[in-house]
Amino acid sequence: MRVELAHSTIHYREIGEGTPVVWVHGYPLSSRIWDPQIDIPGVRHLLPDLPGFGESPAPGGDLSMDDYADGVIAVLDSAGVRTAVVAGLSMGGYIAFALARKAMERLGGLILVDTRETADTEDGKRARFESIETVRAKGLAPIVDGMLPKLLTAKTMKDHPETTERTRRIMESATPEGVIAALAAMAKRPDSAGLLPTIEVPTLIAVGKEDSLTPPADAERMRAAIPGAELAVIDGAAHLSNFEKADAFNEAVSDFLERRQPTR
Ligand code: MLT
Repeated sequence: MRVELAHSTIHYREIGEGTPVVWVHGYPLSSRIWDPQIDIPGVRHLLPDLPGFGESPAPGGDLSMDDYADGVIAVLDSAGVRTAVVAGLSMGGYIAFALARKAMERLGGLILVDTRETADTEDGKRARFESIETVRAKGLAPIVDGMLPKLLTAKTMKDHPETTERTRRIMESATPEGVIAALAAMAKRPDSAGLLPTIEVPTLIAVGKEDSLTPPADAERMRAAIPGAELAVIDGAAHLSNFEKADAFNEAVSDFLERRQPTR
């Protein structure tokens, strides 16, 4: 299925029946990173590819986190879903914060995966713009090679070459325009710390114990700030806790969804 937006088109998949959950992937990935979650029963899975990633064509201009959030809202509208649990992995979490800011009423719950509420530091922003120059000059290969060891644990990379290869292939399906738009949008994103105490829906935070990009300390800080939030620390996982340790992650999500008291 596809939705058309001002500067982009979003392709999404819809699988299963039950509680609507929209799974928003991270950078520089695609909805395929959520494939292990399709096994979670009792869920109507909505799986968008952000503009320029996976099956979605390259965007036609600059994008902000608000634009990505509008894309997710357009997917919900297209699927006829009023409220959904919004699950965001890393950049997907930044998008979930933008969505909560503009349309809290569309949220039936929140699952924040290996993400953080803070904006980029000045050094972080500089690194994003250097990465944009790298993509322009050399294409995606240096980005893919640089990201891979940050996404998975050294143990998984050594013992599970198939997981490593799948992760690499997912990143290689990105377009340079999609990667550049995402890097610029992440550099420009606002701080979401002030939003956290206003989040009024059941929230689960999951983080890989070995995540160095958004470490457990970030997750613990968000847990303390969001009223009633729960935290699942996933052993043996780095930045892709849902993908690297899917069984433990899916158990935490199923348990959360079963106990969630829908507020709307
Ligand atoms: C992601 O996984 O989406 C990125 O690592 C997020 C980031 O670079 O801030």
